[in-house]
Amino acid sequence: MEERMVTGELQNEDSTVELSLRPTNLKQYIGQPKIKENLSIFIQAAKMREEALDHVLLYGPPGLGKTTLAAIIANEMGVQFRSTSGPAIERSGDLAAILSSLEPGDVLFIDEVHRLPKSVEEILYPAMEDFFIDIVIGDGPSARSVRIDLPPFTLVGATTRAGLLSAPLRDRFGVLSRLEFYDAKELCDIVERTTEIFKTSITHEAAGEVARRSRGTPRIANRLLKRIRDISQVKGEKEISLQTTDRALEMLQVDDAGLDHIDHKLLKSIIDGFQGGPVGLDTIAATVGEEAQTIEDVYEPYLLQIGFIQRTPRGRVITQKAYQHLGIRKEDG
Ligand SMILES: Nc1ncnc2c1ncn2[C@@H]1O[C@H](COP(=O)(O)OP(=O)(O)OP(=O)(O)O)[C@@H](O)[C@H]1O
Ligand SMILES: [Mg+2]
Repeated sequence: MEERMVTGELQNEDSTVELSLRPTNLKQYIGQPKIKENLSIFIQAAKMREEALDHVLLYGPPGLGKTTLAAIIANEMGVQFRSTSGPAIERSGDLAAILSSLEPGDVLFIDEVHRLPKSVEEILYPAMEDFFIDIVIGDGPSARSVRIDLPPFTLVGATTRAGLLSAPLRDRFGVLSRLEFYDAKELCDIVERTTEIFKTSITHEAAGEVARRSRGTPRIANRLLKRIRDISQVKGEKEISLQTTDRALEMLQVDDAGLDHIDHKLLKSIIDGFQGGPVGLDTIAATVGEEAQTIEDVYEPYLLQIGFIQRTPRGRVITQKAYQHLGIRKEDG
């Protein structure tokens, strides 16, 4: 897939700055009020009982702050944060090694938890439920199973695709939290916070404009801001202005709803090829030359959120709102 300015997915250039931008406690974490409220109660209660926090599953579109929140949970609990990912754990022995090195109460973060190999996932069931694992030593007739007790720990799983999680795994999480897109006010706060960390300043209108065009996603807001800051700096501005912000976003080909040429291509292909739908996801995928999965996980969520696309039993439909935005007249019939 080509690199996009407005995808929520992590890109190379993000990694260097993201670490410094991550809030480290719940107070600094902007937005997601319901999740924060719940977590802070659960964390407080677990600490009072001197127990490990229940296992937590965080799910939702990329770039909304799942990894950030996982690290915050460990920090608030005052325990170690151990981090790995589904595809990184190839064999059950890999997981056994990680699990048996945990200290009581530690947070084990497994990103892309839906991509754990089946055999590894099965080791995780008793580990999560009763804090032990059974590993098989040797093979053939001399193989025997050894039980290893584990310290109580907290598994924090993250996924962009909760639907792909197996039921037995999903059922073992005590807390299931779905991250939502951020509203403009929250994103504006995030932009202003990031600006401070960057040791620059931005007018309130400019911050609001970045917020409005960031698809409800902090990672995109921070990425856009970084580029806008460069342009503002070269212009010699003391404060990032609305004018520079508009100009920069135009240069970056991000339109005033936060859409780029790929969104336009997707919407137009349904309008031109299928009179605006309904049309099935697989057909759309074939038309734009992308995987159906990518369209569903990456392109579509925000277009659904802002009501440019609707899902119907017969397929995707382009809404009047989208036609208006694109300046295309909807033909009747
Ligand atoms: N609530 C928030 N307040 C402030 N900054 C945030 C918040 N949520 C996310 N961010 C910023 O957005 C960036 C992306 O967040 P993060 O990496 O946690 O997203 P993610 O959901 O784990 O993404 P992915 O699905 O790609 O793993 C981070 O650099 C972080 O600083
Ligand atoms: Mg992440």
